[in-house]
Amino acid sequence: MRRGSIIQLTAIALVAGAICTVVALAVPWLPLAAGQEAVRIDFAYWFVTIICIVVFSVVASVLTYSVWKFRAGPDDDSDGPPTHGNTRLEIAWTAIPAVLVTAISVVSAVILAQNGQAGSNPLIVKVHAQQFAWTFIYPNGQSYGYLTVPTGRHVKLELTTSDVIHSFWVPQLSQKQDAVPGITTSIVITPTRVGTYPVICTELCGLGHALMRSHVDIVSAVDYAKWVSQGSAASTGPPGLAVFQQNGCGGCHTFTPAAATGKVGPDLDNLAQEAKQANRGALAAFIEESIVKPQAYIAPGFPDVMPHIFGTQIPPDKLKQLVQYLAKGPKQ
Ligand code: CUA
Repeated sequence: MRRGSIIQLTAIALVAGAICTVVALAVPWLPLAAGQEAVRIDFAYWFVTIICIVVFSVVASVLTYSVWKFRAGPDDDSDGPPTHGNTRLEIAWTAIPAVLVTAISVVSAVILAQNGQAGSNPLIVKVHAQQFAWTFIYPNGQSYGYLTVPTGRHVKLELTTSDVIHSFWVPQLSQKQDAVPGITTSIVITPTRVGTYPVICTELCGLGHALMRSHVDIVSAVDYAKWVSQGSAASTGPPGLAVFQQNGCGGCHTFTPAAATGKVGPDLDNLAQEAKQANRGALAAFIEESIVKPQAYIAPGFPDVMPHIFGTQIPPDKLKQLVQYLAKGPKQ
């Protein structure tokens, strides 16, 4: 092979590689990693991406060079000369991909094994999925409609569901795990970056699937300790507030006294007006029916996605507290 050809082939490969590298680096393809596991998974992505860029550059270079140098003349209808192939080349293009694919398997297997490690003292949070809300239950028995976790500690999420298959996903934590009826599945997260990130259901689970969202607050260890102690203090507020929070109502509804800003369902600050418009009895009766039997009256402009399980999930005394709390309206 002539020296000039090698220089030309290398030049094309470098140009192709440079274009791919710019595309890979200039576009933020991956969400900002907020956990140790996500950092490892991002490493696997980049490991594979770099291999792909190198292989693509070599292939693109040889292809481009061949099209350019060995193009048939305009009137050349003859066949090309017969060839016997090239044993050395064939061994090379078999062996190199085999080594690369093996390397990717080993890196992925090591990362998967590391990401499954919860250490000896993980914080265990039970994650309960239902159509169409998430509930997070802490070791002290408190439950919330959103997840709060500290940085620098392994957190083991144990997933269950009361109806169909759902799937837990926080893009910034990279991993997904299904909640499957009848069994408990788990996932380990080790948060590193303080912030608020979305919790998304990523398994089509019914009409309200797209609305089945919550959030995770990643806080420092000190703020987490404060939050845990406030959790017991919160129960000194209106009793209805605790019921509101435990059932994840704020995930879908706005209600000023609970600092809830959900937009999926009707704005609960306007319940008095809504009750008049619906004309389904007194305010308290209307609220109770809307919680226990949400399909009885669908507020105009909203989909029929409110879970039907609150009638059995919320005990009668708690339901009463919740109804009273909501009936008092936005100024309390
Ligand atoms: Cu739950 Cu989709």
